Amino acid sequence: MPDLLLAIDQGTSSTKCLLVDGAGQVVANGSASLGESHPAPGWVDQDPDELWASVRGAVADCLDGQDAKSVVGIAISSQRESCVIWDRGTGAALTPMLSWQDQRTTSLCDRIRDGGDASLVRDRSGLPLDPMFSAAKARWLLDELPGGQQRADRGEICIGTVDAWLLSRFGGEAVIEAGNASRTQLLNTRAAAWDSDLLDLFGIPEAALPRVVPSIGPFPTVRDLAPLADGVPVLAVMGDSHAALFGHGAFKPGDIKATYGTGSSVMGLIDDVSRLDPGLCLTIAWSIDQPAFAAEGNIRATGATLRWLADVFGISSAELADLAATADSHGVSLVPAFNGLGAPWWDTDAVGLLDGLTLATSKPTIARAALESIPQQITDVLEAIDRSVGRVRELFVDGGPTRNDMLMQIQADLAGRRVVRSETAELSALGVAHLAGLRAGLWSWKQLAGFNRDGTTFAPQASDDARHTARTHWGAAVARARYRPR
Ligand code: G3P
Repeated sequence: MPDLLLAIDQGTSSTKCLLVDGAGQVVANGSASLGESHPAPGWVDQDPDELWASVRGAVADCLDGQDAKSVVGIAISSQRESCVIWDRGTGAALTPMLSWQDQRTTSLCDRIRDGGDASLVRDRSGLPLDPMFSAAKARWLLDELPGGQQRADRGEICIGTVDAWLLSRFGGEAVIEAGNASRTQLLNTRAAAWDSDLLDLFGIPEAALPRVVPSIGPFPTVRDLAPLADGVPVLAVMGDSHAALFGHGAFKPGDIKATYGTGSSVMGLIDDVSRLDPGLCLTIAWSIDQPAFAAEGNIRATGATLRWLADVFGISSAELADLAATADSHGVSLVPAFNGLGAPWWDTDAVGLLDGLTLATSKPTIARAALESIPQQITDVLEAIDRSVGRVRELFVDGGPTRNDMLMQIQADLAGRRVVRSETAELSALGVAHLAGLRAGLWSWKQLAGFNRDGTTFAPQASDDARHTARTHWGAAVARARYRPR
């Protein structure tokens, strides 16, 4: 009977599962959707119980017709930064989960900034003070939960990210994986330990936090995840973006990947953290023998821009992509600062902007500008990574929008370097399965490095002049989006 690994990727809009065999091949998959609610502008809630049900649904879907007894271990990758509180005694969720997309803590972050503590936050956590990260969300949830602060101080409740919440479903001690913990803004990232000054600043007692563990655990074993038997080990846990980096086989500094989704994450390992560009985050990619550090830039709106414009035009996303293929952008730039701008600018005051309009500007031109905003923003981050690790030669890419060949060609042209697209649809799940297989002894690092990673390469075709002109127009538009009159 072959040894199988079950990989679960718990994402923002769905949970996806892969069944992976001892040669690293995907033999089955499954999925279940997950909703979100918007109780007020900028607020994004998810239901922790619905999230758990979505994991159970995806696992059942994946293992339907398969031999669940052959599963020797599971691997979990998950959306990051989202924050939930549960009762340590009963295991019940006590609050909605505040999604990583939620912006309700903007004013709390502003108050901390006005108090002069932004540099403390940046120095210790490696992250810019921003409502995306879990710390401010945890503060907001504790304020809302009746008796929340006192119960946290007494250690009766637990505050965690999606990985910690899912692992808590299995019982045992509350734990959080180091890479996910590094996205909370409460961790001293370099030390891979909770930071007492950050905990004080956000008023979060350590008694209410899970214990930080490496990406290979030890984790509690599976419980109540039919058709798996109770007691199947959890072998590996990673943040989704980190798992995608692992799935690309990007194991050395200078190997950089971009994941294209609602937003985008551009990420790669870094050996000299003192060179990190200020527009980037310092993140623990994974922790095996010791933490491996990564430089990461998070872009708020990439795929979301196309969905927004398709809605405005009253067409489908596919029709928008077709429209964009029929035109040039003719110097028009669309800066999708719907909620300010993330990396490398981290400017919450930046405003969305359509720049360079003329009477000749048409719907296809605007569609093209929207499409180009994705590779333009990714190139901005890539250039910040160049400043941190030296000139990056090629960019590994994954995620739904990378299926668009034209988008990938524009990416290669604007970045002025090769783009290598993974042909694996679920790279986060596969990446965390790769780590689990290492831990289970199914393959070695050497075998893993030699795994066949199907890729399609896009070489730059545009002239240096054309690239320079496009980048200059874009830079000017970003400057205007960030302009504030005195
Ligand atoms: O940082 C947020 C990210 O982890 C969410 O990923 O794939 O659920 O959109 P995804």
